[in-house]
Amino acid sequence: MKVAGGEKSVWKSGAKRLLGRAGFDIVRSTNNLGGVDDFIPFEATMRAARATGLSVGDYIDEVMNGTPGATQATVDELRARGVFAANPNTVLEIGPGSGRYLEKTLKECSPERYEIYETAAPWADYLVDTFGVVAQPTTGSSLAPTPDGSVDLVQAHKVFNTVTFLGASRYFFEMARVTRTGGRIVFDVMTENCLDPAAVRAWATEGGAGHDSYPAAMPRRTCVDLFATLGCSLEAGFLAPMGVATTEVLVFAKTA
Ligand SMILES: C[S@@+](CC[C@H](N)C(=O)[O-])C[C@H]1O[C@@H](n2cnc3c(N)ncnc32)[C@H](O)[C@@H]1O
Repeated sequence: MKVAGGEKSVWKSGAKRLLGRAGFDIVRSTNNLGGVDDFIPFEATMRAARATGLSVGDYIDEVMNGTPGATQATVDELRARGVFAANPNTVLEIGPGSGRYLEKTLKECSPERYEIYETAAPWADYLVDTFGVVAQPTTGSSLAPTPDGSVDLVQAHKVFNTVTFLGASRYFFEMARVTRTGGRIVFDVMTENCLDPAAVRAWATEGGAGHDSYPAAMPRRTCVDLFATLGCSLEAGFLAPMGVATTEVLVFAKTA
């Protein structure tokens, strides 16, 4: 991973601070696929988290993003909607990054297998070493190594507002393919529910510097209709904080 800026400059720049709130920094991942696949620097983030005594996930929520408890709040919402009730045995996560959702997911259930597709190699390695997850080869929008109907819970958090429309759409087909009947699919997208005029103004004036494809919007109806054709019905949707505004977490059940 190539770090383009030193730690000090990262914290000094207002634009970079805003990007940091979404989990971004001016860093290239090892597998740059052309969209916004940048992620925060591994070494500097781990060092800073250790200095606070927080887990890296809590450090990102509390210190970098200024939204303490945000990850836990989403996981609490998912629990309340029964996402973990059947104790998913196989979980797949796209773009886990620091593992802040992964860590909390593992407190809710005990899957025998947890696969990740992550383009930032240092973070993927860290998650394999720390949590014993399986890092699959990641080409950017395919879950090809994962068999059809083999996963109980497929999730992606704060990923599909950072990739292009095509990248997200291709992953949608793949998520439906790998999920077994009765399984759940959870992801967030920046829908029209997140884009009232005040939010658009906030993004236009304060957000997105340095990243042409972040934040990327995705119509809610597009997701609901597409997943319906793939045998998946919408069970819930709720807003979560993202950057200067919000993102919408959607929960689908694969019914056919
Ligand atoms: C904004 S970060 C979110 C990380 C984590 N899910 C979280 O919420 O803290 C986006 C993550 O997706 C990864 N990523 C970007 N493009 C990807 C792609 N095409 N396939 C898989 N992961 C990708 C990045 O490396 C990064 O870890």
